[in-house]
Amino acid sequence: MSKSFSTITLETDDKGITTVTINRPKKLNALNDEVLNELADVFKDIQIDEAINAIIVKGAGDKAFVAGADIKELRELDNRSGRMASQKGQQIFQLIEDTRKPVIAAVNGYALGGGAELAMACHLRIAGENAVFGLPEVGLGLIPGYGGTQRLPGLIGKARALEMILTGKQIKAEEAHQLGLVNEVSSDPVKASKELLHNILKNGPLAVRNAIKAVYHSDHRSGYQVEADVFGELCETEDSMEGTSAFLEKRKPEFKGK
Ligand code: COA
Repeated sequence: MSKSFSTITLETDDKGITTVTINRPKKLNALNDEVLNELADVFKDIQIDEAINAIIVKGAGDKAFVAGADIKELRELDNRSGRMASQKGQQIFQLIEDTRKPVIAAVNGYALGGGAELAMACHLRIAGENAVFGLPEVGLGLIPGYGGTQRLPGLIGKARALEMILTGKQIKAEEAHQLGLVNEVSSDPVKASKELLHNILKNGPLAVRNAIKAVYHSDHRSGYQVEADVFGELCETEDSMEGTSAFLEKRKPEFKGK
């Protein structure tokens, strides 16, 4: 792939494994609109680039994989634009999940909100020892809007997913491993991802692609519509304005249930 991007760097090794690095470390790699647009372009290219066999997604630096959707941008959303933003994030993450080449999230540091949702849209997840996962949106007066309400129950079961989504609590790598949210914990998640991909890529490429297709085949896409509708409605509430403002002003939110 010869294009260059301003918030994403790409590197392909001699085995055709492309590492996609989200590169906004000063904002803990938060997903603003530019990052999302570039991620979409990158994955559209990856689908058709025959030199690419597999993908690793990671964040720049050790502190964060991705600390979520960009809260500054979330604060500006109303019902309509909020629903559209949710649908846009869902579509881009669906594009990642629909990639018929193995995609592994190598997670160092914080994978919160949209970051956890991005990791969940990847086919496999390897966590660094310092990884932290969580869906803290309720603390902002919102809900996960990029597929988290749909993918987390599928990965760890409804009861545990609801507990994480309703409390917004953060869990460390080991607990994420015990819950089945991540496949492995490693001191070097990129190296471990490459090793796992080497094992996968020894197998028949058509078999690998079709196995991914079969595992993800589902007729139950309507939950995503509900997620986007509710996300949009919440964007217009006093609570989400208070939650996002409180984060940016570095204070505790005072919710009123309005
Ligand atoms: N959106 C926008 N900016 C973000 C962000 C996000 N999701 N997460 C972090 N940042 C920014 C901070 O505002 C800060 O910017 P500043 O230096 O201009 O003030 C910078 O990234 C560093 O973050 P900071 O909060 O100072 O780091 P920390 O080590 O004290 O805390 C976290 C790290 C991850 C606990 C904290 O940043 C956090 O709670 N982030 C939001 C997580 C979240 O709610 N995500 C879901 C969004 S849907």
